[in-house]
Amino acid sequence: MQKIAVIGAGQMGTGIAQTVAAHGMRVMLSDVDLATAEAGKGKIDKAVSKLVGRGKIDVGAAEALLDRITPIGDYSPMEEADLIIEAATEREEIKNAIFEAAGKVLADDAIFASNTSSIPITRMANHSPDPARFIGLHFFNPVPVMGLIEVIPGLATAKSTTDSVTEFAKGLGKEVVLSQDEPGFVVNRILLPMINEAVFVLGQSTAGIEDIDKGCRLGLNHPMGPLQLADFVGLDTCLDIINVLYRTTRDSKYRPAPLLVKYVEAGWLGRKTGRGFYDYTGEAPVPTR
Ligand code: CAA
Repeated sequence: MQKIAVIGAGQMGTGIAQTVAAHGMRVMLSDVDLATAEAGKGKIDKAVSKLVGRGKIDVGAAEALLDRITPIGDYSPMEEADLIIEAATEREEIKNAIFEAAGKVLADDAIFASNTSSIPITRMANHSPDPARFIGLHFFNPVPVMGLIEVIPGLATAKSTTDSVTEFAKGLGKEVVLSQDEPGFVVNRILLPMINEAVFVLGQSTAGIEDIDKGCRLGLNHPMGPLQLADFVGLDTCLDIINVLYRTTRDSKYRPAPLLVKYVEAGWLGRKTGRGFYDYTGEAPVPTR
């Protein structure tokens, strides 16, 4: 695969575009309009400049990487893409509308992948032009750093599609875990109940924010505690995923912690809004409770 298109220029989409371009492939980046896609490229520029500052890559390589990324304002140039990766908001109706609109320009031999973190692939595949060429390709944040991609074929996905995207994922220097199309796939099925439970622990005042995080950092050797990680992922995304697990399995063990719901209702969504379980507006994060 040489030409990739990424739909969604947020945290995940820009991370995917950066990683693809860092591995020598050309990538088109789109969002709701050209200005948003260009702003996404601006975020990548910032991240890459940091790497240059730290001596991780040289200026020439950084410029070449950025040259391979083209922000676009509509889907028509994607007719050239070998693979379109959807990385939009984790809402099924938004994703389905994208599969229908961008599906109109999908080349006859190209693949449509979704970076969904939990929505069933088999169901979304019906909104794409060809479910045999539709698959889940789940990246982890921060994409340039994390070593894993989950590959999730739906019921109708052709083996050739699974093989192609597995090869593509390995070409990005990532390890692949193949998951069946079950709610939350493998990693989020395990991660989200942990984050949700941490919010229950907080809500029941069993321990404070810093101690819950310290407990998991030092007691389990996790790089971030669960509340820090929830802020990093976005509390709205965490709630969306735990709700998918809850609604699709109807198993009460996945019921969202009331405090998580409250934080989302308050608009305290984590790092991206400057406040979640921690306040990020000062020099260092400060716990909010
Ligand atoms: N591009 C390239 N490299 C980058 C980068 C970027 N955008 N951002 C950071 N890096 C590199 C840095 O250069 C640095 O490299 P070295 O170690 O070689 O120096 C390394 O990544 C670590 O960066 P920092 O020193 O800035 O930060 P850190 O040491 O505090 O680590 C972290 C930050 C990697 C995020 C670490 O805290 C971590 O691994 N946290 C857990 C992340 C995690 O669990 N992610 C999964 C979330 S779940 C998910 O994504 C799935 C879902 O569907 C919700």
